[in-house]
Amino acid sequence: MQRSRIAGIGYYVPKNVYSNNDLSRFMDTNDEWIQERTGIKERRFADRLEETTTTMGVEAAKIAIERAGITAQEVDFIIFATLSPDYYFPGCGVLLQREMKMKEIGALDIRNQCSGFVYALSVADQFIKTGMYKNILVVGSEKHSFAMDFETRSRNVSVIFGDGAGAVVLQPTQNENQGILSTHLHSDGADAEILAMYYPGASANKWLKDKPGYPDKELGGLFMTTEQLESGAALPYMDGPAVFKKAVVKFPEVIKEALSANNLTEKDIDMLVPHQANLRISQYVQQLLGLSDDKVFNNIQKYGNTTAASVPIALCEAWEEGKIKEGDLVCLAAFGSGFTWASALIRW
Ligand code: ACO
Repeated sequence: MQRSRIAGIGYYVPKNVYSNNDLSRFMDTNDEWIQERTGIKERRFADRLEETTTTMGVEAAKIAIERAGITAQEVDFIIFATLSPDYYFPGCGVLLQREMKMKEIGALDIRNQCSGFVYALSVADQFIKTGMYKNILVVGSEKHSFAMDFETRSRNVSVIFGDGAGAVVLQPTQNENQGILSTHLHSDGADAEILAMYYPGASANKWLKDKPGYPDKELGGLFMTTEQLESGAALPYMDGPAVFKKAVVKFPEVIKEALSANNLTEKDIDMLVPHQANLRISQYVQQLLGLSDDKVFNNIQKYGNTTAASVPIALCEAWEEGKIKEGDLVCLAAFGSGFTWASALIRW
């Protein structure tokens, strides 16, 4: 069976830089606390009106498509991973299709949060391997800044996340020494609510009924007044320590699974590109796997956690900086809300 390979890759980050000190203008936080716990120094926030998850995805896609040596009209399938879509529905895939004037091809949105891009890559890989499509555009993009609360009550969440997008074009290759070797996907919904945003959602009534101001109605519940929204019922929730504990187990597990499926070991990895959840998580995983600093790529310091965009942004930056070369064994790994976690092993 033919393999798929990354034929083009690109990323886009908004130009507005917000340092940790900038955030302390809005909430009670400080550079020392944020850097010590997360490694983050600054992040990018999209323009409030001009930029959306889709427009950032389009910018990243244009670069990936050009580097793949094709035109937007030659793309034959779109997979778009995001947790911060432009609309509750429809998804961003069709908006990107419209914006890039693509043909009437299929567009699939993936809702797997931090592991969304690796899941999307895995789906694309299957379509390429079976010969169904020849040029699949895979995008991960997030505009977190629009839904976060920049007040002290939400500081444990809002200092972590940033905006940005990454994209790849996947194509078939006959070269046996190149391409995606395998992908590995997992989930465990037991702790689905400890890293979640309940509103708007069909279960919101159940989770939010006791929150101040939540509408106590026989039917409905989606529409809240501004006052009710401001009470905080609609904000993302994260039990940070619980996420940390699970992540440091599942990251190494899924990386080892990928290696063992290909009869490889940690020593064979040339570059590990982990989801940029938190620098402390990446460092812990690096230590556990016994990898040297030059074999793990981190850029959370500059961009914060960009969820579904973090892996393709980091992969692209590592490649642009010459840290990934032809023939290198690259491992992608991600863990996030759900929980879901995933890995991909690629011979570059
Ligand atoms: N600035 C200053 N103080 C803060 C901030 C802040 N931004 N946020 C929280 N604090 C305070 C809290 O109020 C608390 O104060 P208290 O002791 O007086 O009550 C204290 O710091 C400790 O709060 P915790 O929430 O317990 O902070 P913790 O030390 O656990 O660190 C963090 C929080 C960084 C989120 C940590 O739990 C973590 O790294 N968890 C992993 C989760 C993660 O990485 N999520 C990323 C997204 S999910 C993903 O991508 C997989």
